[in-house]
Amino acid sequence: MQDKAGKTVSTGFGNQAASPVIDPGKCTNCGMCVKICPSVTIINVSGQATVVPDNGMGCFACGQCTAICAFDAVRVTGRRMTPDDVLPWPASDRTADDVSLHNLMLTRRSVRTFKDAPVERELIDRILEMTASAPMGIAPSDVECTVFLGRDRVQAFAGDLDGVFRKWNSFFNPVTMFFMRVFGSKAAYQSFDGFLLPIIREMIHAREHGSDMLFYDAPCVLLFTTHPMADPIDGTIACTYAMLAAQSLGLGTCMIGTVAHAVNMDKKVKARWGIPADHKACLAMVVGHPAHRYHRVVKRTLAAIHIKD
Ligand SMILES: Cc1cc2nc3c(=O)[nH]c(=O)nc-3n(C[C@H](O)[C@H](O)[C@H](O)COP(=O)(O)O)c2cc1C
Repeated sequence: MQDKAGKTVSTGFGNQAASPVIDPGKCTNCGMCVKICPSVTIINVSGQATVVPDNGMGCFACGQCTAICAFDAVRVTGRRMTPDDVLPWPASDRTADDVSLHNLMLTRRSVRTFKDAPVERELIDRILEMTASAPMGIAPSDVECTVFLGRDRVQAFAGDLDGVFRKWNSFFNPVTMFFMRVFGSKAAYQSFDGFLLPIIREMIHAREHGSDMLFYDAPCVLLFTTHPMADPIDGTIACTYAMLAAQSLGLGTCMIGTVAHAVNMDKKVKARWGIPADHKACLAMVVGHPAHRYHRVVKRTLAAIHIKD
């Protein structure tokens, strides 16, 4: 038994470790927590599962020990985790099987037409509750979500991003593009010339004519950002979970990639919406009640599958 926190890998929480506590009255010394602990904080000392705070990476509150213990003998406290964050295992008829999960995935489409109706706050809360279960590089999550609730708020954000796109549009003129083509990387030139700039110009043009090609007049936008110490992919994984969560609630979504570039390159936009300057925007997602119903599923394939056996 041990409840003294040691050091652990540094994340947005700093390097303060969490503390696993093993209840000796419940522990049968089955060894599962020792086997499962990825940070090597719980180890076998003289045949007994023992918390050694400064061993290995130190406890970062992944909760694996608590989850695996069949005897409810382990609790973890710290790094935002409390002993109350342990829920009973759901009944098997309340978990998705491969068919129902696959159907949820297959019937998801990127939705770009929304009913003129707000997204209820309870649905947003439920999406975020479900999103919180997304895996992350190092637990607990260093992902933050900024919710632009209501069309007015979304359009205010879109207006700020339009300002960034206009700056880019004048900066990446034929002269800078010439230098980029000659002296820059081929991939950067191609992505600006063939993809980013044409899209930006379309969005500016559309906005001038009263149409929103960025957020499609959605009633809500979720922007996923990460602390600088987080794995950069964490926000994208969270956004993917949010997308499926929204789909399960009957809402339509579309990921919006251009937003992250604009937010990351403009300190004023970050400051205006309360995003810390050193945090990284990963991905945004529009959410709303879909205006139309789809009738068919479109099968997709990966670009290639390479099985090495
Ligand atoms: C990372 C990422 C970024 C995206 N960015 C945009 C975007 O900025 N605007 C947009 O209309 N769609 C965006 N999409 C949606 C894709 O265009 C969409 O997945 C594609 O149209 C295929 O449609 P489906 O999602 O219905 O299969 C993005 C998707 C992903 C995964």
